[in-house]
Amino acid sequence: MDRFYLENAAQYQALVKALSPTARVRPLLSEEIATGFPCAVFPRTAQPGVVDIHDLYNHPRGRPILKSFNYRVDRLFNSQTTTEEIYEDLVVDLVPFAWNGGIGTLFAYGQTGSGKTFTVSRLEQLVAESLMDGSLEGQRQIYITIIDLAGNSAYDLLKSRTPVSILEDSFGVTQLAGAHEHLVQSRNEMMDLIERAASFRRTAPTLKNDASSRSHAICRIRINDPGADSDGLLYLVDLAGSEAARDIAVHGADRMRETREINMSLSVLKDCIRGKVQADALISSGGPKSKQKKAHVPFRQSALTKVLKHVFDPASSRACKTVVIACVNPSLADVGPSRNTLRYAEMLRVIVPTTNKADPNPTAPMAWTNAQLKDWITKNSGTPPILPDVLAPTETGAQLLRLPAAEFESRCLKSPGVSAEQTRAFRSKLWQMHIDSHRVGNTLNTPTSNPSESSEPGTTLGLTSRLSSRDLDPATMAIPFKERIRPGMVVSWNEPPDHLGLSTADDLKLAVILCPLEAVQGIVKDTLENVVNHKENGHADARGNGTDRGARYLCALVTPGLMAEAYELNLWRQIVLDVDSMDKEVFLEYDAGTR
Ligand SMILES: Nc1ncnc2c1ncn2[C@@H]1O[C@H](COP(=O)(O)OP(=O)(O)OP(=O)(O)O)[C@@H](O)[C@H]1O
Ligand SMILES: [Mg+2]
Repeated sequence: MDRFYLENAAQYQALVKALSPTARVRPLLSEEIATGFPCAVFPRTAQPGVVDIHDLYNHPRGRPILKSFNYRVDRLFNSQTTTEEIYEDLVVDLVPFAWNGGIGTLFAYGQTGSGKTFTVSRLEQLVAESLMDGSLEGQRQIYITIIDLAGNSAYDLLKSRTPVSILEDSFGVTQLAGAHEHLVQSRNEMMDLIERAASFRRTAPTLKNDASSRSHAICRIRINDPGADSDGLLYLVDLAGSEAARDIAVHGADRMRETREINMSLSVLKDCIRGKVQADALISSGGPKSKQKKAHVPFRQSALTKVLKHVFDPASSRACKTVVIACVNPSLADVGPSRNTLRYAEMLRVIVPTTNKADPNPTAPMAWTNAQLKDWITKNSGTPPILPDVLAPTETGAQLLRLPAAEFESRCLKSPGVSAEQTRAFRSKLWQMHIDSHRVGNTLNTPTSNPSESSEPGTTLGLTSRLSSRDLDPATMAIPFKERIRPGMVVSWNEPPDHLGLSTADDLKLAVILCPLEAVQGIVKDTLENVVNHKENGHADARGNGTDRGARYLCALVTPGLMAEAYELNLWRQIVLDVDSMDKEVFLEYDAGTR
C-alpha cells in the first residue's frame, strides 16, 4: 500500500488541489517529508471543527481515484498551533477547577506517532507552572503521583517502576496501593518529578515511532485544601498508541497481546466517556423516563477506567470536567489510523437526550440549558452583575449546581466589583430555587388523603407548619419555651463546663431535642464518649449523677452547612443538655429537597 501511495504521490496532489483545500495543516516531520508521503489531513477554514481526509484508491481499471472523508470535532488545532495555545484554549480552566475541589481530566488519544506524549509532556509542565506561580487564591498542598499502566499491571514511575496494585477500598474508593504521593513545594520540584517519570516510561519501537509509549501514563495531581479538608484532582493521561497490529515492528506473541490489551482498554474508555455523558444528561433531565435506557458506564472493565473511577462512576456526585485531545498524524502513509482516530473522537460527541420539550420547567435550574442559565444569571445576579459567560461559559443548570462552592465563588469574583458576600447570596438564591422546584414537584405528587390535613396555613396540621421546627399549635407559643420542650425543638445553648472542647466552629450553638434523658434505653454515649445515662436503681439518671441541675435532654448537634444560611443536623453527634444551659428556641425551616 505504501508503495502505491509513493508511486502516485504526484497524481494524489493534483487531485487534492482540484478540491482547493485552503486549511493550514501540521507540517510533516522532516523524516516524513523525506519519505515522500504528502499531507492527507486538511482542517476546513470555513467550517470550524470539520476536517477532511483524502485517501487514494487503486481503481482496478484506470487511474487511481481520490476518496474523501470528513469528520467533525468540537475544536480543531492545526499544525501551526503550539501546545501553549492549546493549553490556553482547552486546559487552563481545569487548573482552578481542580484547585477548588473539582476533578479535571485530560486524555490524549491517537495512533502511534501522532504526538500524544509530545502534547501531554508539555501540558504537564504548563500545569505545573500555573499551579505553582502563586496566582491561585488560598493555600493548598499539592501531591503528585505518576503511574504507568500496561494491561492490568501498574508501575510507579516516580519510584523506579515499583509495581502498584489497583484496589477498591471498603468505601468504594480506588486506591493505588504501593504508589508514592510526592508532596511538591515548588515548580522546579514538580518539573523534576515529571521529567523523572518520563525517563522511566516503557517504550518500544513501532513502524511509526521509534520511542512509542506501549502503556498509558497517568499523572495524578491531588490538590488538598486543608481549610475545607477536601481534595481536587487533576488527571493528565497520555494514552498508549491506538495502532493496528500491522504497525508493530516485531510481531512477537507478547507484542500482539500488548496491542490487544491497549485496544481493549481504549474501547472501554470510549464506552465509559459516552456512558458518563449520557448518565449525566439523564440525571439533569430528572432521571430516565420509563422507556429510556439507563446509561451504562463499564468502568470496572479495564484497569485504566478503574483508576479513573472518580471520573466515571455514575454514583459519584463530584463535579468533573473532561477534555479529550485526539492527535492525528497528517501523513498520507497514516491515513487509515488517522481516520480511526477521528472516528473515535467523533464517537465521543454524544447526542445528549433532550428533556421533555412539552413540559419545560422555567423554575427548575436542574433542567436549564446553558442559554436559560445565562439568561437567569443576567436577570438575577444583582449589581454589579455577575457575568454569565464567566460563571457558566458552557455549563447547564445541573452542571452549575454540581460545581464545588469554592469554584463557583472564584468564578463569580472574576466579574468586576462583585463581592464575596454577593457571590454567596447569589449561590444561595440558585440553590433555594433548586430546592423549591423539588418541593413543588413533591407537593404536587403527594396525595392529600385527608382534607383536614390539607392546605390552610396556620391550621394545626397544615403542610407549611410541617416544614418548620415551630410548634404545631401556634397557641402554645405564648408559653416560655423551657416549659414546653418537645422532640424536634431546636434550641441555642451555652456550652456547659462538662462539654468544654466541643466547639461547633460557629458562635451560635444549636441542638435539636431528641428526648428526655430518662427515656434513653440501654447504654448511650455522647460525642465525647461519655455514657449519658448512668443508671441508678434501674432508671436513667436525669439529674446528672446527683448534681443540682434542671431536667436534662438527649440532643443532636446542629452545625452550619455548606451553603449560606443552611444547617446540618448531626444525628450521630449527640450531647446531653441541661435545660438551664438552653438559651432560647430557634426556628429552622426545612425543605423537601434537603430534609
Ligand atoms: N506538534 C508537533 N510538532 C513537532 N513534532 C511533533 C509534534 N507532535 C509530535 N511530534 C514528534 O513526533 C514524534 C512522535 O510523537 P510522540 O512520541 O509524542 O507520539 P505518540 O502519539 O506519543 O506515539 P506513541 O503512541 O507511539 O507513544 C516525536 O518525535 C515528536 O517529537
Ligand atoms: Mg507516546
